Amino acid sequence: MDPAVDLAQLAAEIRACQRCPLAHTRTHAVPGEGPADAALMFIGEAPGYYEDRQGRPFVGASGRLLERLLAGIGLTREDVFITNVVKCRPPGNRDPLPEEIEACRPWLSRQIAWIDPLVIVTLGRFSMAQFFPASARITRIHGQPLWQERRAILPLFHPAAALRNPRWMEAMEADFAQIPDLLARVQARRSDSSSPQQLSLF
Ligand code: URA
Repeated sequence: MDPAVDLAQLAAEIRACQRCPLAHTRTHAVPGEGPADAALMFIGEAPGYYEDRQGRPFVGASGRLLERLLAGIGLTREDVFITNVVKCRPPGNRDPLPEEIEACRPWLSRQIAWIDPLVIVTLGRFSMAQFFPASARITRIHGQPLWQERRAILPLFHPAAALRNPRWMEAMEADFAQIPDLLARVQARRSDSSSPQQLSLF
């Protein structure tokens, strides 16, 4: 079984998706991109104008910021998996509707299951809401990881918000700086939790 082939098959299914009315207004669905075994996964909100044109995530100003922040921790966009909660552009870049998010949810769940990243970084409130309670506020909880069984979820501001507000840019840079340590901690936890089972075989 080759995870990259299965992820490519999943992307092909997403490109052909007709589960919600955004299928009629999109130019291209944007499944996301990156290595099938990425340790780090970024989840944004939904494709914008340029993403819809090109069929690729985060290719505009937000994407450039993401690339700059990644460079700050020694990574490039090719090292990470980048996708969105909603795979098709909402017309006029409006907020995605609850039913669109719901229709799209199985795609994201399958991507997470295939990639099995150590750390998921949520970008903005729609992505955060996939993992955190409805009462969570991004201004309060950004940069505070949520520990799940196999990974940590790190909620960050959306890059577009950071580009608009210098205070949030500062917070975004500080939150980003935590990523390498968080990756190492999750990796160590996974190694720890696999060793007792091996020992118990003897
Ligand atoms: N903003 C997002 O949330 N996702 C993209 O892919 C581009 C901009």
